[in-house]
Amino acid sequence: MPADPDPKPIELSVVIPTFNEVHNVAEIVKRLDSALSGISWEVIFVDDLSPDGTADAVRQLARSDQRVRLISRHNRRGLSSAVVEGGLAAASDVIAVMDGDLQHDESILPELYEKVVSGEAAIASASRFLDEDRPEGLASDQRVKISNTGIQLANRLFDLDMSDPLTGFFVMRREVLLRALPELSEIGFKVLLDIIAASRPRPKVVELPFRFRERLHGESKLDSGVLYEFLLFFIEKKISRYVPLPARFISFALINSIGILCHLAVFLFVERLFGATFAVAQLVATLAALTFNYTVNNAVTYNDRRLRGVDFYVGFVMFAVLCSVGIFANIGVATMLHHQYGELIDLAPAMAGAL
Ligand code: GDD
Ligand code: MN
Repeated sequence: MPADPDPKPIELSVVIPTFNEVHNVAEIVKRLDSALSGISWEVIFVDDLSPDGTADAVRQLARSDQRVRLISRHNRRGLSSAVVEGGLAAASDVIAVMDGDLQHDESILPELYEKVVSGEAAIASASRFLDEDRPEGLASDQRVKISNTGIQLANRLFDLDMSDPLTGFFVMRREVLLRALPELSEIGFKVLLDIIAASRPRPKVVELPFRFRERLHGESKLDSGVLYEFLLFFIEKKISRYVPLPARFISFALINSIGILCHLAVFLFVERLFGATFAVAQLVATLAALTFNYTVNNAVTYNDRRLRGVDFYVGFVMFAVLCSVGIFANIGVATMLHHQYGELIDLAPAMAGAL
């Protein structure tokens, strides 16, 4: 559509995070055009250099339609931070956030917008579960379970009473985002929850139902990993506040402490049950703890940038090489202590090795 010669000031900025949505972006703009007649709007796609060329597709649309804007970022940084950056770049005072895969029903945008503009609420969110128990857009039973668990946790931990605090579809005043900014975590997917949890006083939220549609093109980027991500988010919100350390550090430390227990258990197992020598048992235990620490930290601490497939193994080898200096020092020190203090206290040197 050509630019309007006498445009109204923009009333609504629609922020859409995208990762591999090349077949959806043109359709979304078309649908926004019909859903938002009467409101002057812009759409800001925030893309993390999708390999499928989503950014080029948006650029193409932007050439002939001034309402379309693109923020293109490098090094994939995730959905939440994409929404925040898009929101900060918005021209209008009211921001809509929605997915770029056509699962969100754009026809309820005017209603959400109205709730916010009329002052009825600071945030109007679109809930997948207000009218339905099992939205068709949640492809598997596992996905329904993950969502239900996440929703219950979110309500309990943050003292909310929402049918869908994890929805990615909502309209808010820009100032809500700005006020929440210093406290935002930007980890993972839960941007609405993050904004609500970071706001003092809590913004007034109204929920409206919508039908969460099936995804037609591309695939969901969410899997059971989101529950781990939630754990990290929880650590950040509930523990980092009292222990002034970054959530990732706390998560890393907690997991490595379990790694120490894992080390000791494997040590005892190999030494006592298989009668291995101290040094061998220590080596096996060290490798077990190394594997444990790497795998669990990859899944939890670094869930948002975790390595999969071949990269996982390449990462593991690099991690092992990096740790090898420490490993040999550990085993050396532990074996030396063991020689000096004999069998009397077997566990103490093993413990020293584990640490
Ligand atoms: N920029 C950017 N970077 N966008 C991303 C990224 C990323 O790393 N990961 C996903 N997106 C985009 C997708 O392209 C899509 O437009 C939107 O974020 C939602 O991603 P989906 O992969 O389609 O998520 P979903 O449908 O499985 O999850 C839905 O439910 C979640 C709660 O259970 C979404 O509505 C989420 O927003 C919601 O939190
Ligand atoms: Mn989706």
